[in-house]
Amino acid sequence: MVKARKYVVKRAFQGLPKREDFEVVESELPPISNGEILVKTEWVSVDPYQRAYNSRYPTPYDQFSFQVGVVQDSKDPRYPVGTRVVSHRGWCDYYVGTPGGTEKSLNSTYKLPDLKGLSPSLGIGAVGMPGATAYFGFLEICKPKEGETVVVTGAAGAVGSIVGQIAKIKGCRVIGFAGSDDKVQWLEKELGFDKVFNYKTVDVNKALKEAAPNGVDCYFDNVGGEISSIIIKNMNTYGRVSVCGSISAYNEDALEGPKASILQPSIVFKELKLEGFIVSRWIDRWPEAFADLTKWILSGQLKTREHVTDGFDNIYDAFIGMLAGENTGKAIVRI
Ligand SMILES: NC(=O)c1ccc[n+]([C@@H]2O[C@H](COP(=O)([O-])OP(=O)(O)OC[C@H]3O[C@@H](n4cnc5c(N)ncnc54)[C@H](OP(=O)(O)O)[C@@H]3O)[C@@H](O)[C@H]2O)c1
Repeated sequence: MVKARKYVVKRAFQGLPKREDFEVVESELPPISNGEILVKTEWVSVDPYQRAYNSRYPTPYDQFSFQVGVVQDSKDPRYPVGTRVVSHRGWCDYYVGTPGGTEKSLNSTYKLPDLKGLSPSLGIGAVGMPGATAYFGFLEICKPKEGETVVVTGAAGAVGSIVGQIAKIKGCRVIGFAGSDDKVQWLEKELGFDKVFNYKTVDVNKALKEAAPNGVDCYFDNVGGEISSIIIKNMNTYGRVSVCGSISAYNEDALEGPKASILQPSIVFKELKLEGFIVSRWIDRWPEAFADLTKWILSGQLKTREHVTDGFDNIYDAFIGMLAGENTGKAIVRI
């Protein structure tokens, strides 16, 4: 018998999620049946959508997230003991599951991509859902051309840091906005962004006018709100905006919401294209992204950084820390 622990959300979040909104539930897992695997979790992910999607699910629910684990017992010959798998089984230390499926749903369990010796934790980061988000959300929606100017917000995070580097690989000029001077340094000095600003201390409009005197062609929007309105007002004719997320509003009341300046005049007179997306749109093609991202990491063109918290008991703190901007790169927890 294996004793398993998991985080259950027992109360809808109000504002910033509270420790008491979660309960750690222990149970004895049943022996596995034919077609099932027992998985021991190695890494779990803490992500903004775990806050944003809270209102969609009636409580109580098991806290979902991507995670990487190792098969400990198997009654599926395709997944022998020792196989590493990526699943959406969330914040738990062991689970019993049925692997495979169509691999077209977030709920499928798939084998960790071939990372050619890189850390398996990348399977929930740069070579996982956040990597696919950066790859498809930027390339498919912004359709960047060499020499164009790209702006990324949330630039030092899991998705943003990859978007900026893909933009450099594609020959663009890249301007980022992030929430601390250390993040600015990392993006400019180590990742090769052309110019990065601390959005908490600069006048965004002025900074942009100086850094992008010829205007902005592509904007990858991770944060929403007023900063996005300012960036969109600085866009060139036929500019493209990939609307990936709006973390500046996730802890706000969904109906009241913060207000931001009107966008329609810029959209009309600059003939802009704005498109929102959910990365599962391209789930059939994730392996395509994973192959390119792995190749770029191995060749040194793409750098990855992880913000690691240790221990099952510290997942809540890691989650709140990520929402507060403590992470540079991908926020993950080692179990
Ligand atoms: N559409 C999709 O399919 C999809 C998939 C994955 C992620 N996303 C979205 O992509 C965005 C980034 O996700 P991620 O996983 O890469 O997270 P992340 O950027 O690694 O972590 C979240 C970051 O958000 C920033 N932040 C927090 N509050 C903020 C505020 N009020 N204004 C501006 N920035 C704030 C913090 O950095 P600072 O220090 O810079 O403030 C924090 O580090 C999120 O909006 C997420 O919902 C969308």
